[in-house]
Amino acid sequence: MALITKSVKGTQDALPKDIHKLQYIEGVILDKVTSHGYKEIRVPVFEHTELFQRGVGDTTDVVQKEMYTFDDKGGRSITLRPEGTAGVVRSFLEHGLFNEPLPQKLCYFISCYRYEKPQSGRLREFHQFGCECLGTASPAADAELIAMVSGIFDELGISDLHLEINSIGCPKCRKHYHEALKEYFSARKDELCPTCLGRLERNPMRILDCKSPICSEIAKGAPKVTDFLCEECRDHFEKTKKYLDAMDITYTVNPSIVRGLDYYTKTVFEFVSDKIGAQGTVCGGGRYDGLVEEIGGPSTPSLGFAMGIERLLMVMEAQGAEFPEVAPCNIFLASMGDEANIKSAQLAKELRSIGVAAEFDIVGRSVKAQMKYANKLGAEYTAVIGESELDSGKVKVKNMKTGAETELGIDENFDDSFLQLVFADSFATGE
Ligand code: HAM
Repeated sequence: MALITKSVKGTQDALPKDIHKLQYIEGVILDKVTSHGYKEIRVPVFEHTELFQRGVGDTTDVVQKEMYTFDDKGGRSITLRPEGTAGVVRSFLEHGLFNEPLPQKLCYFISCYRYEKPQSGRLREFHQFGCECLGTASPAADAELIAMVSGIFDELGISDLHLEINSIGCPKCRKHYHEALKEYFSARKDELCPTCLGRLERNPMRILDCKSPICSEIAKGAPKVTDFLCEECRDHFEKTKKYLDAMDITYTVNPSIVRGLDYYTKTVFEFVSDKIGAQGTVCGGGRYDGLVEEIGGPSTPSLGFAMGIERLLMVMEAQGAEFPEVAPCNIFLASMGDEANIKSAQLAKELRSIGVAAEFDIVGRSVKAQMKYANKLGAEYTAVIGESELDSGKVKVKNMKTGAETELGIDENFDDSFLQLVFADSFATGE
């Protein structure tokens, strides 16, 4: 075999053998957020580049270094979404969702694209589940959101994640903080990377999450944002913590969390694992009270989060989590001869219409080879239909786990009798 090309660096396939894990995770997540009033929204993979420049911020690493941006054939600058919030906010505004009852609680499963250096837990195409809660300024919303994420991880049985929270204030307190940062970093100006040198004037907070080793070392000694919070922001943070305490959510306050995107205000948070290497942040989010206005809408205080699905899977696999698997084949109907194969097709159709995963031979294999294939599929029951079964109108259905055989009629209501057999067997084994 000479494959003409392999997958692009930093991308990966989700193979059928693993897909039940993702489906299980997605099911648990959707159940949890639905119970909190979230509805799914689907937005395009690509947007006009300016949406991310304005929304995510043109001094962030994401916008300055990591976006997949290209001109389309009509000469428009297009960008593959590096994250979901900006697109959801654009859609919220474009479709007038701000006129609907607020808060609007929106959620999404999306692929994202960032040109980062690939390593374990860091991909160029990755997947996120995210939620955006648009139209509430109350700290109760911050706590509800954080508690919901915590509930998702509990439901998935994840024990290795810890929650870190911080407040990064509002534009009012940020002004004083920026001045303090400018003073601190100016003293070590000569050591900063060229990108951070540019950030020093425009947005010194971005230096705090620069990935260059020298900048991040210098950033360790920088003033902390929590020392510059205005009264309103301090009060909001205290109230958020009070709600979290009342809901029994364990967290630590980490004044170093600033997040890598420009839109955040007040509460920010991350769920971090120390079991999956350097890229341990599984989920990140926070409040973004100014973003909707920044994108051209009415003042709409909002908040949200996104979790990286690949990192979540890594954490679960590292702790040996079990992923329930739906049986891919409830019954395999093997057949001998054309007529019996046609009968199998008919019975399979009947069974499938009531939700039974039924298979029959669509290859033309010998009975022996069909049974071997049924075994590989993990068929829970098998039946072999031949001339004598067609004549008698009865077939022996074999429970592959217990070896027990039960005769069922195939000319009428085979689907009902098969279901009864399954119920009787599961009752007998207590499953
Ligand atoms: P973010 O922190 O940039 O936030 O990304 C959220 C999560 O996506 C990360 O915690 C991580 O698990 C995953 N992730 C990010 N980059 C990569 C990568 N290169 N490879 C694999 N996984 C990655 C946001 O995207 C915000 N939009 C979250 C948000 C929503 N804030 C408010 N609303």
